[in-house]
Amino acid sequence: MRAVTWHGRADVRVDTVPDPVIQEPTDVIIEVTSSGICGSDLHLIEVMAPFMSVGDVMGHEPMGVIREVGSEVTELKVGDRVVVPFNISCGTCWMCNQGLQSQCETTQNRDQGFGASLFGYTKLYGQVPGGQAEYLRVPFGNTLPIKVPEGPADDRFVYLSDVLPTAWQAVQYAGIPNGGSVLVLGLGPIGDMAARIAQQLGAGQVFAADVVPERLARARARGVTVIDTTEQSDVVGRVRDATDGRGPDAVIDAVGMEAHGSPLATLAQKATAVVPDAIMEKVMQVVGVDRLAALDTAIEAVRRGGTISLSGVYGGATDPMPLMRMFDKQIQLRMGQANVWRWVPDILPLLTDADPLGVDDFATHHVPLAEAPEAYMNFREKKEGTVKVLLQP
Ligand SMILES: NC(=O)c1ccc[n+]([C@@H]2O[C@H](COP(=O)([O-])OP(=O)(O)OC[C@H]3O[C@@H](n4cnc5c(N)ncnc54)[C@H](O)[C@@H]3O)[C@@H](O)[C@H]2O)c1
Ligand SMILES: [Zn+2]
Ligand SMILES: [Zn+2]
Repeated sequence: MRAVTWHGRADVRVDTVPDPVIQEPTDVIIEVTSSGICGSDLHLIEVMAPFMSVGDVMGHEPMGVIREVGSEVTELKVGDRVVVPFNISCGTCWMCNQGLQSQCETTQNRDQGFGASLFGYTKLYGQVPGGQAEYLRVPFGNTLPIKVPEGPADDRFVYLSDVLPTAWQAVQYAGIPNGGSVLVLGLGPIGDMAARIAQQLGAGQVFAADVVPERLARARARGVTVIDTTEQSDVVGRVRDATDGRGPDAVIDAVGMEAHGSPLATLAQKATAVVPDAIMEKVMQVVGVDRLAALDTAIEAVRRGGTISLSGVYGGATDPMPLMRMFDKQIQLRMGQANVWRWVPDILPLLTDADPLGVDDFATHHVPLAEAPEAYMNFREKKEGTVKVLLQP
């Protein structure tokens, strides 16, 4: 089959690899019909590169049609339409029963000291072949895939794999009081969707900051108060002015360790060396090379006693955190990979024809698998208005 494979920093290709086969009696094989490219995939071709191997199949946001089922699969049959969560969770262990699927005790990577395995991710998370491919082997066929109805286009459901539950968890963890205020940092797919969900769930004021014009425009069009950090770098001051001088009740950090700088200090220069793009240089000058720039903004901006919800993925162990400031402001901090299945029942009722979250036209690009390398680079460098790409094998 054809699949998007990892070859190095800023280097993904489309290769022919062996078709996946049933390995366990509870496995299913799906034919992939849509598969998202995620901000987390960018980490893999940048700062997380040391944890990847040449030939790894990328991707963790797939949906498709069941083509084969193992002998013990009773809940799904050939032909069913399913979305596959990005965390590989058994659905039956103690952690899964707590709604902590990203900590699944059946797939936890104890040898690495990391949580549940993820599709298409690093050695730290099991190095499991991903879903930017024509076919995907999915374990736990009775409990992991999310069965979705026939009818609407893939765009309606595909974000159940990651974007929707991640943004939903970001908003839940933010604990925004009814009618309260939230600042979203970063308007990539995750931040954009988090802002939409915050509005949907009754936040009174939703602010969001980014540097990319198209991304700011998308949020502005949906009634978010956007702050372009290239023209007005005082995000903290602007949001404070609009919240009686206190700051927002909550801040959602949807930035994480992206191309412009890195908390993995020894790797940061390598990462930035491969980003010659003009926008990235501007971003670096304006928001700084320190990957904690967004987190620092969150700590300063949030009101005293407020909550910071981190959905951006961070790495590195030695970054100093301003603990005195955090203690004094009595900040609550919540974070983690999304527990996909935990939020699915809450989200599904919103994926109706009325489409309150705007999933139907959320993707900016639909491209065939063969064009994945170009799409990756456009997404990474925020060119051609790229916000969300769906690959269609
Ligand atoms: N927790 C989870 O389960 C989970 C799931 C999916 C993605 N993620 C993470 O969420 C983050 C965002 O993902 P995405 O797909 O939206 O990626 P993305 O890279 O498209 O979005 C990041 C956005 O942040 C903006 N940005 C950079 N520095 C900023 C700053 N200092 N202030 C404000 N904005 C800034 C960028 O311009 C960009 O638009 C990534 O770190 C990704 O790994 C986490
Ligand atoms: Zn993702
Ligand atoms: Zn489990």
